[in-house]
Amino acid sequence: MSQAEDHSGTRRDFLYYATAGAGIVATGAAVWPLVNQMNPSADVRALASIRVDVSGVEPGTQLTVKWLGKPVFIRRRTEEEITAARDVDVSTLPDPSAENANLAGEQLATDENRAMPGNEEWLVMMGVCTHLGCVPLGDAGDFGGWFCPCHGSHYDTAGRIRKGPAPTNLPVPVAEFVDESTIKLG
Ligand code: FES
Repeated sequence: MSQAEDHSGTRRDFLYYATAGAGIVATGAAVWPLVNQMNPSADVRALASIRVDVSGVEPGTQLTVKWLGKPVFIRRRTEEEITAARDVDVSTLPDPSAENANLAGEQLATDENRAMPGNEEWLVMMGVCTHLGCVPLGDAGDFGGWFCPCHGSHYDTAGRIRKGPAPTNLPVPVAEFVDESTIKLG
């Protein structure tokens, strides 16, 4: 079966996000073939919980998988990215809230409260702009994190909104390492 046939549902679902802006169409072309190549099993099933093999993700790169119908960014950050995220005064952030489903109650958006506990080089976030739902581009924007081209939202290397119309940080879903190279979402 060709990838086009195999992932037709995935592509249709993706177009839902693509309708919010012309710029995002290019993201669809660039991001999803990578997903299909690197993680064919995880993105085709909308299971409540999925396991993602991250053994092939090098520092400074990310994997995008589809979970519950939405893209999830799994990034292995460099030391520079982590340092940049930790150097930020949380009180200056547009959204000072961690937006992390793994933490109870209201927590501050420190880098430690956003990254995977004990594995702080790893950042797992929903890949959906909190403004109107486009898929932000990685390695982009004024803060070296993600940039949403639809209306110009800039996220930093911890996925926190820093500039532009998006009201909140990219949400961190329920996620944990179940072994040293596998992240379970949900
Ligand atoms: S959807 Fe408007 S800036 Fe991302």
